Amino acid sequence: MPGFDDKDFGAEAAPAHLKAETGTLAQSPSNGEDGVGAYGRGQSSTFGAVEVPASRSSIADASPYMHQLSLSPSMKDRRGSRNSFGAALPIPRSKRQSRLSSVTHADGRPQRPGMPPIQPTREILAGQVQDMSKQKVSAAKDMAFVFDIDGVLVHGDRLIPEGQRTLEILNGDNELGIKIPHIFLTNGSGKPEEARVAQLSKILHQPISTEQFIQSHTPMSALAEYYERVLVVGGEGYRCREVAEKYGFKDIVVPNDIVAWDPTIAPYRVFTDEERATSNPRDFSKINIDAIMVFSDSRDYATDMQIIMDLLQSENGRLHTRAKDPISQRIPIYFSQGDLLCPTEHPYPRMSQGTFRIGLEAMYKALTGEDLERVVYGKPELATYKYADEVIASWMETIHNEEKLPKNIYMVGDNPASDIIGGNMYGWNTCLVRTGVFQGGDNDENNPANFGVFTNVLEAVKTAIQKELGKEFRFEWSDEKVNPLLQSEASSAAIE
Ligand code: G3P
Ligand code: MG
Repeated sequence: MPGFDDKDFGAEAAPAHLKAETGTLAQSPSNGEDGVGAYGRGQSSTFGAVEVPASRSSIADASPYMHQLSLSPSMKDRRGSRNSFGAALPIPRSKRQSRLSSVTHADGRPQRPGMPPIQPTREILAGQVQDMSKQKVSAAKDMAFVFDIDGVLVHGDRLIPEGQRTLEILNGDNELGIKIPHIFLTNGSGKPEEARVAQLSKILHQPISTEQFIQSHTPMSALAEYYERVLVVGGEGYRCREVAEKYGFKDIVVPNDIVAWDPTIAPYRVFTDEERATSNPRDFSKINIDAIMVFSDSRDYATDMQIIMDLLQSENGRLHTRAKDPISQRIPIYFSQGDLLCPTEHPYPRMSQGTFRIGLEAMYKALTGEDLERVVYGKPELATYKYADEVIASWMETIHNEEKLPKNIYMVGDNPASDIIGGNMYGWNTCLVRTGVFQGGDNDENNPANFGVFTNVLEAVKTAIQKELGKEFRFEWSDEKVNPLLQSEASSAAIE
């Protein structure tokens, strides 16, 4: 899985012993700006991960949503929390290895004396066409698309037809037969990357690689180096446990393990025999949970909120205890994304992780009088966009054998508060489509897309390509036009 190298930031990895001594995230000052978007480029390096300064406040969002009378200001002096969460979001370091290009460039036709010539393959023909259009080729390699998924390419399991055609064009069905770089950046979550990519490839009828794919929790694999035992919340069944295992988390607890140990912790939960049989109960009054990772949408708000609240109020993550100091003994909590709503088959968008989090923040404030500190990954967080940059560069190496970041990056999204604001802040071109969350007028009032608003993804992509490669660019590959054999066959047929 791609990530950042030390050399990318001029930083050295901190020695491993620091991790054992503190087990916490270090405050991470910015290294300065390089003028890329309003976000800048600050980051620092700790352990085996890279820490990117948080672009969102680490303090709960709940206050504006609460009745003033329910806010009881704390009399205590605000004390530094045990972890400086919110100061920095770790993302994975590069584990990249050199890969050979998947594009075949042939210098000449194979020689097979005495045998009929081999029909030129599309790759060979494309190579020849590309040799004749060097300027367009370099423009095609100097642009890249970053696609949001839900509301742009699909609605849940339902294809948005223009999504398939878009990917066909970018995968080579264009006048150059060239692969135009693109990656997928979704706030979606809840299953391993391999499984989601397989599902999407099937819906879109196009090949998609995990190397060009980022889910909301993908960069959170970096957190595996910081915490020994974690509670993983959300998703169907035990799929998020599977995700955490793949990310390298060593000791993973899910809410079912806790309910199986002490059913009284969740008084409204009806626990099935199957759930009991598949859970892994331990005596959680004797061990500490080091951090909470909300990877995906909760399937049982009552149980998950109860367990999370118990842990946040416990002494260093030990259940059946209450912290003497609610701040310094509070364990960190991370959310994989902050979207309030998600478009589904239902006529109105459904609540997502953001609303779940705000509910928790309000409960925490109401019960303790303190604001909850937390970290939120996913779009529009800076760390997620930095990680995307790295994935684009790595994907460029895979498809074109050139590890570089294209100059002109286009984010295509349906959610102004997530895809568009993040892309704008990061200095990308942003395209807002009308097939998802955005249902407004000419452009979004608060977070307008800087490249424009489009009916669908195909319209956005065609407009962007024409801007970079010329108005006349054809969105179709034609064997006949470039294959001399087929051309002569066609002309003799015409003569006849
Ligand atoms: O909001 C949750 C998620 O389904 C959004 O996915 O692809 O639109 O970022 P996406
Ligand atoms: Mg979307």
